[in-house]
Amino acid sequence: MSFYIAGTGSALPEKVVSNDDLAQFLDTSDEWIFTRTGIHRRHVLTHERLDELAIRSAQIALQDAGIGGEEVDLILCATMRGDTFTPSLACTVGEAVGSHAPSFDVNAACVGVLYCMEIADSFFVAGKAKTALIVSAEAMSKLVDWTDRSTCVLFGDGAGAMVVRAGEGRLAGELSTRPDSHVIRMPNIEGLNSPYNRIEQEKLAMYMDGGEVYKFAVNAMGSNIAEACAQAGLTPADIDWYLPHQANVRIIDASLRKFKIDKSKVLLNIAECGNMSATSVMVLLDEYAKKGTFHKGDKLLFVAFGGGLTSGAVIVTWQK
Ligand code: ACO
Repeated sequence: MSFYIAGTGSALPEKVVSNDDLAQFLDTSDEWIFTRTGIHRRHVLTHERLDELAIRSAQIALQDAGIGGEEVDLILCATMRGDTFTPSLACTVGEAVGSHAPSFDVNAACVGVLYCMEIADSFFVAGKAKTALIVSAEAMSKLVDWTDRSTCVLFGDGAGAMVVRAGEGRLAGELSTRPDSHVIRMPNIEGLNSPYNRIEQEKLAMYMDGGEVYKFAVNAMGSNIAEACAQAGLTPADIDWYLPHQANVRIIDASLRKFKIDKSKVLLNIAECGNMSATSVMVLLDEYAKKGTFHKGDKLLFVAFGGGLTSGAVIVTWQK
């Protein structure tokens, strides 16, 4: 016994920043950003806290599933950094929705939601959970260097959630890592004012070798799709909907090209949201679920890559 998706939710910051807005203070243009990535706009935190968005998305997902927080017996939150190191974002969400369930954050960069789905699967298989709340929230705008046009234009902020309940919806899950601490690096704030710490502080903002990430992403997503499909006894053509990490339209196209998939099966919202790290696939899921895109029995494949370097693919059947 594993799980099925019983409810979804999402919450985005109010402020929308267009490529033209960025061109006001960066040497860039809508033409460059859109043709290289497929991004036109992204949402950026201003007056909101990240945990407010996480809580709102969780409440919407619980309402969608028709349950209260007290029925949840596991909370997982995919994030690279919440508003506080402790309590974790998962605990903060649990407090707001009235749950005393075991709660913890998972950092697998952009693949975090897929890692959470696989951790939840283990709890369901072990009989340790009947209902889990998976949340994702990322404040990328607080992590990037806003003077670095090669990285800051790619990202956006947001939160999303799904309620998963005991059932037979999960068909396969494939997670992998190619450890590499140089290709994508986002240092923590360390040491603060410890009189004992003499280690020089790393440059705080994100560093990324875009070309190397691109090559890794195309290879990793391609092989994770093939492996997850093989695990489920399916071919890539049997999948009804692809929900890929929204990092770059060119990466998505290149990683799916060899499978000759009908492009109308590949769901996108990158033009409006940019790359929201782990949260991307969650917001994508909620957006298309609410549009009524999925029908009972449809096979959904989530696929993502990110810092670490991590990657993975999960296949579920839609049962709502
Ligand atoms: N506007 C205008 N010009 C720019 C910009 C910009 N925003 N950014 C870079 N350029 C310039 C570069 O300086 C370079 O100029 P030069 O030729 O004079 O040196 C030129 O544009 C070409 O740059 P490239 O890096 O070759 O551009 P490319 O076509 O490879 O696209 C991109 C760059 C979009 C970053 C691409 O490599 C990419 O998407 N990589 C993957 C990144 C990614 O998906 N990361 C997600 C994971 S991160 C995470 O997990 C948290």
